[in-house]
Amino acid sequence: MKTLKWWQNAVFYQIYPRSFADGNGDGIGDFKGITEKLDYLAGLGVDALWLSPHFPSPNWDCGYDISDYTNVAPEYGTMDDFKHFLGEAHKRNLRVILDLVLNHTSDEHPWFLESKSSKDNPKADWYVWVDTPPNNWQSCFDGEAWTYAPERNQYYYHYFMKQQPDLNWKNPEVKKAMWDAVRFWLDLGVDGYRLDALGTIFEDPALTPHTVPMNLVELRRFSEAAKTPEELKQKEKYWHDMFKNQWGQPGIHELMKELRSIVDEYEDRMLVGEDDNIDYMGNGMDELHLVFNFPLANTDRITPKHIRNNQQDRIAQLNKLSAGGWACNTLGNHDRSRIYTCYGDKVHDAELARLNAALVLTLKGTPFLYNGEEIGMTDYMLTNIAQVKDTMGSWYYHTIVTDMGVHPDEALVRTAEMTRDKNRTPMHWANKPNAGFSPDGVETWLPVNPNYKAGINVHDQERNPDSILNYYKHLLKVRRETPALVEGNYTPLHENAEDYFAFLRTAEKQAVLVVLNYSEKRLNLNFSDAKELENKNLHTLFSSGVRSHVEHAASKLSIAPFEVFIAEAKA
Ligand code: NOJ
Repeated sequence: MKTLKWWQNAVFYQIYPRSFADGNGDGIGDFKGITEKLDYLAGLGVDALWLSPHFPSPNWDCGYDISDYTNVAPEYGTMDDFKHFLGEAHKRNLRVILDLVLNHTSDEHPWFLESKSSKDNPKADWYVWVDTPPNNWQSCFDGEAWTYAPERNQYYYHYFMKQQPDLNWKNPEVKKAMWDAVRFWLDLGVDGYRLDALGTIFEDPALTPHTVPMNLVELRRFSEAAKTPEELKQKEKYWHDMFKNQWGQPGIHELMKELRSIVDEYEDRMLVGEDDNIDYMGNGMDELHLVFNFPLANTDRITPKHIRNNQQDRIAQLNKLSAGGWACNTLGNHDRSRIYTCYGDKVHDAELARLNAALVLTLKGTPFLYNGEEIGMTDYMLTNIAQVKDTMGSWYYHTIVTDMGVHPDEALVRTAEMTRDKNRTPMHWANKPNAGFSPDGVETWLPVNPNYKAGINVHDQERNPDSILNYYKHLLKVRRETPALVEGNYTPLHENAEDYFAFLRTAEKQAVLVVLNYSEKRLNLNFSDAKELENKNLHTLFSSGVRSHVEHAASKLSIAPFEVFIAEAKA
């Protein structure tokens, strides 16, 4: 077996702390709750946890607006609670990575309060200040990217909300302060970081205006109305053109190299970037360890053709890195519609959710799962504007109602669809009031999706052998016990097939066939042309269907509608 690093072997599980488990009964998730669920996570079979921000924050962007980088948000607990959680996770061999938000702080961070207090304070240059807005740049969350601060009679730049001012990374003092924070948690023993929005850290030095003939809110409205292929293409182009001068600008690779060298001072830590650009992995050794394969997820429908094209493209790019590259696949996170909802067809949602889980867990690379996926949680559309916590959503609602005269009912529907609250509702632990997330009678920070009563909860699914939870557990176990599924090379088979996606994972001593049938048809397939399968029998390792035999001839394989089939080639 190859010696892989822990983060190459691992399956990561993202915890959204506010919504995972409420240990003190105040309606908000916390470290006590997460710690109580560590046995559940170890039992599920994941190896590493990524925590979305747990730092003090005024929560304009649900924790991604940090006001103290070396502390714990009081609603999540104390520093001792964090240390206890980390120790307990490590005892169970669960690694822990944190979210690292470098681009911006909260506008309530003491650094910003000082910076905005005058033009000549010691931190005057820690953020991006100008006398007048130099261009038409937009914030991707709330309108203009330049906001006036009367204290300085100047404007500051923010890529995200105005409560999230961008740091000036050209200032060495900013770097030093942030690297100190990075070291703080590494010294405590965390295993690495997920880097938030790294593409936004630097801006075009020439401050070139964007060329899109509309502002952010108009572009959102345009995007909602876009239906034809031309309109959809135009929409993509507009989004790209609107932000291209605020993304991926010079300076970022040097910064990532610097960060990597800090992380490398510690043993066995890792960095994964919230970006799909493989360039952020440098030569494969000197920038980030991983970047997410978002293009796999960026589609309305996961089809065999889409997967094959995606893999061909990503693997070719990774292979170009001189020190080698490692893939990282994911379909869900706290910013995206839940996979059960967004890749469903409203008829076979359950089958498709299982296929897509198997996809992420069998493709070559490190998988990232999002909490709740394993019980088939779905998006939940809010029904009242007062429930919206994702402030980019409430900003959008009020702007289209007030400035554009959109009827409040329509605005609510649009907002419920665009806001990320829909995929951040509390985790369902049981068929009990509040889904067992918080005690009965407590108002949870976001409403609980009532479908926990229909079996979408951990307690009921643990007792049901056919549940999606037990399906995930089984798949995770098979993955762990099958070296080729972790370290093996990827070879697509039957590349013109439209109904199914078939591929081999081949390690030194093992060849494994995976067939994902994305159709309602029963398939009769012959894989004996593949040299690894020639004259071999297929020994079933996993099937989502019912099979009367374990061994099958590679030349005569019958696959049930929507079946996931994984088998090892045996002489
Ligand atoms: C990406 C995070 O995933 C998202 O939730 C957040 O709003 C932005 N970055 C800003 O930090």
